[in-house]
Amino acid sequence: MRTQVLIIGGGPSGLLLSQLLEKQGIDTVVLERKTRDYVLGRIRAGILETGFVELMRQAGVSDRMDKECFIHDGTVIAHGDEQFRIDFTALTGTPVVVYGQTELTRDLYDAREASGGKIIFEVENVRIHDATSERPHVTYEKDGRELTIHADYIAGCDGFHGISRQSIPVDVRREYEKIYPFGWLGILSETPPVHHELIYSSSDRGFSLCSMRNENLSRYYIQCSLSDRPSDWSDQLFWDELKRRMPTEYTDRLVTGPSIEKSIAPLRSFVTEPMRWGRLFLCGDAAHIVPPTGAKGLNTAASDIHYLYHALVDMLLDGDAEGLERYSERALARVWKAERFSWWMTSLLHRFPDQSEFDIKMQAAELAFLQGNDHAQISMAQNYVGLPY
Ligand code: APR
Ligand code: PHB
Repeated sequence: MRTQVLIIGGGPSGLLLSQLLEKQGIDTVVLERKTRDYVLGRIRAGILETGFVELMRQAGVSDRMDKECFIHDGTVIAHGDEQFRIDFTALTGTPVVVYGQTELTRDLYDAREASGGKIIFEVENVRIHDATSERPHVTYEKDGRELTIHADYIAGCDGFHGISRQSIPVDVRREYEKIYPFGWLGILSETPPVHHELIYSSSDRGFSLCSMRNENLSRYYIQCSLSDRPSDWSDQLFWDELKRRMPTEYTDRLVTGPSIEKSIAPLRSFVTEPMRWGRLFLCGDAAHIVPPTGAKGLNTAASDIHYLYHALVDMLLDGDAEGLERYSERALARVWKAERFSWWMTSLLHRFPDQSEFDIKMQAAELAFLQGNDHAQISMAQNYVGLPY
C-alpha cells in the first residue's frame, strides 16, 4: 500500500490531521492499535481553545460541537473561602468552549468514516523504517500478517506510550521531564454541575476542581497521594473531601451521586526535542505532556496539528518545504509556553509535600496578586484561552 501521509495513532491528533488533509485532497492512512470503542472509552477534559474550535470548523466537524458545547466566559479561582473570577471574555475578547474530548473524537471518527477515510484498527508491532530517506515506510501486523505502507511523510500521533518518539535515535533526542509528587483523583457523576463555570480551588488540604461535561454530567477532581488507589476512596469519602476543599458557598449547592467513573491520573510535564526526524513528525502527546491543571493537553496537540497540516499542504500541493523545515521550531515555541503555564498553574494551586511555611506564603501572595492585579489576570486569561498559533 502507498499513501501521501501515514498517521500513526487514531486519537484526537491523528484523526484531526487526517480529516484536515483529506479535505485538501491529500491521501492519508491512520494506523490505530486499539478498537474505535476502546479509544472512545477514554475519559478526558474538553476545554477547547478557539484555535482548536477553528481547526474543527476547517475540518468540517463542528456541527454537533456548535450545538452541544458550553461557552465559558470565565472561571472561578478559590483559595480557602476567598474566591475571584477571571473574566476571559472581558480581558481577552475570547471565551473557551467546553465540549468533551470523547465527543469530539467521536465526531472525528464519524467524519472520517463518512468520507471513506482509511483507518486500520487493532494493528500491532508498528515499526517506522527509513524515516530520514525520501522513501520512508511503516511495517505493522494485522491478523497475524505483516504488512507494509510506503508514505511520503509519517505523522507520529501515537501518544506518550507510542513508538514514534522512540523511533528518533536516542542520541538525537533531548527529553525534559518533571514528575509532580501527587495525582488527581477524578470522578464522573450523573449530577448537575455545582456551578455554570469551572471552579479551581487551592486549600490547605490540597487542590480540587469542579468541572462538567453537560448539564447532567459533572467531573470533579481532588489532589491525592501517588500511593492512593481509586478503591481507597468511596464515593462518600470523595464528596466529603471535595466539600472540605471548595468554598462553603458551593458546598450546599453540590449535588452528589454515585460515581460512574473513578480514576487517578499522575501529573507530569514532558517535552521531547526535536519533534521531527527526517520525514517523521511528532504531534500531541507523542511529543509532550502537560499536567492537566491548565487544560492544555488537547489544545497543544491542536497547535502541532495546525503547523503540520499547513506545512504538509504547502509541500504536497505547492512544493514549498519551509513549513516542514520549521515545523519543530514553530511547534516547540508554543509547546514550551503551554508547559510554562501548566507548570505555573499547578505550582500555584497544589500543596507540595516538601513545602515550607514560606513556600505556602508565596503561593498565597501569588494568588492575592492575581486576585488584585488586572495585568496578572490578563496574562492568565491570555494563556488559558490560548496563545496565538
Ligand atoms: N500503533 C498504533 N497506534 C498507537 C500506538 C502504536 N504503536 N501507540 C499508541 N497508539 C494509539 C493509542 O491507542 C491512541 O489511540 O495512538 C493514540 C494516541 O492518542 P492520545 O494518547 O489521545 O494522544 P493525542 O491524539 O496526541 O491526543 C492528545 O489526549 O491524552 C490526551 O491529554 C491528552 O488531551 C490530550 C490528547
Ligand atoms: C475536565 O473537565 O476534565 C478538566 C477541566 C479543566 C482542567 C482539567 C480537567 O484544567
